[in-house]
Amino acid sequence: MQVTQPPFGAKKIMLLGGTGFVGRALAGALSQAGFSVTIPSRHVHRHRDLALNPGIRLIDRAPAASDMASVRAPLSWAELMSDHSVLINLVGILNEPKHNGVGFEQAHVTFTQTALAAASAAGITRYLHMSALGADAVNGRSFYLRSKGRAEDWAHEFGEQNGIGVTSFRPSVIFGPHDAFLNRFVQLAALMPGVFPLACADALFAPVFVGDVAAQLLSAIESSELNGRRIELCGPTDYRLRELVAYAAKTAGHPRLILGLPDWASRVQARLLEFAPGKPFTRDNYASLQTPSVCSVGCPRQPTRLETIAPQYLHKRTRV
Ligand SMILES: NC(=O)c1ccc[n+]([C@@H]2O[C@H](COP(=O)([O-])OP(=O)(O)OC[C@H]3O[C@@H](n4cnc5c(N)ncnc54)[C@H](OP(=O)(O)O)[C@@H]3O)[C@@H](O)[C@H]2O)c1
Repeated sequence: MQVTQPPFGAKKIMLLGGTGFVGRALAGALSQAGFSVTIPSRHVHRHRDLALNPGIRLIDRAPAASDMASVRAPLSWAELMSDHSVLINLVGILNEPKHNGVGFEQAHVTFTQTALAAASAAGITRYLHMSALGADAVNGRSFYLRSKGRAEDWAHEFGEQNGIGVTSFRPSVIFGPHDAFLNRFVQLAALMPGVFPLACADALFAPVFVGDVAAQLLSAIESSELNGRRIELCGPTDYRLRELVAYAAKTAGHPRLILGLPDWASRVQARLLEFAPGKPFTRDNYASLQTPSVCSVGCPRQPTRLETIAPQYLHKRTRV
């Protein structure tokens, strides 16, 4: 089961979702800070490079929502977490197999419940939870946002009742090398002849750099004053989606005229693209975009500007 040598260092951290875009950035930051990090993965063979970082141990164990939710899972997961003191959960999905909320419920809520129950049984006392701006169990506009809200609420309640210090993070869209946001639009722009028909073009975002997100999580590990806090993460500037797409396309060498679609056409596009390979845009994504993904007034902003970092990885880029 074990792929790399056992890690070294002080606190041992169980990092769920550590193979993803944010997870990789955080794993690197944790490694540099001297933590020992365990990353379970469903696809260890794809992520062996992660184990080149000092202190990182990849384990070939499916942290799938279905597995976590199984009756046997809590005990075995508690065993796996037994010598760890911190659990970080970054697991999340943007699309589900069917448009009924079940996939989101399983990946966000059930997974969180089972992971935290196991963490509690293992004696873990610190939990960092990745949520999203706009997550709201009751008023969320999409299955994604409601399930993210339920998971976040549940984590905080469970933490209070079981003596686990819980801090959740609510980022806007996250950018950085290998992001699935700007890179995806550049890829699409490269296919468009001059004009880019864009759904929900006036949706608002405050893109936050993945390095800043990782730094916030890292600093929260030892900060017990953040127990119970729900922290919004936004970059320095708010943008309309049309501005971001135009900027990314131009920076990558594919300048395009952005044609904002009317609402009815955005809905039609979502219905159609839901059936395209990789589900580039779905009805649930459309619903999520109806809620501005920007931070509350007065919320401190993260420092890194999009314009400082994005050109480094978008420049003349045609493929993800
Ligand atoms: N990226 C953004 O712009 C953004 C914005 C707001 C909030 N967030 C939240 O931040 C977190 C990380 O996002 P990300 O961009 O890093 O996502 P990502 O690149 O898609 O990575 C997601 C991670 O979750 C794991 N995962 C997905 N479904 C799973 C399942 N059913 N069971 C077990 N593991 C599963 C993946 O493992 P595999 O590699 O094995 O699939 C991967 O490690 C998510 O919770 C997301 O909702 C992201």
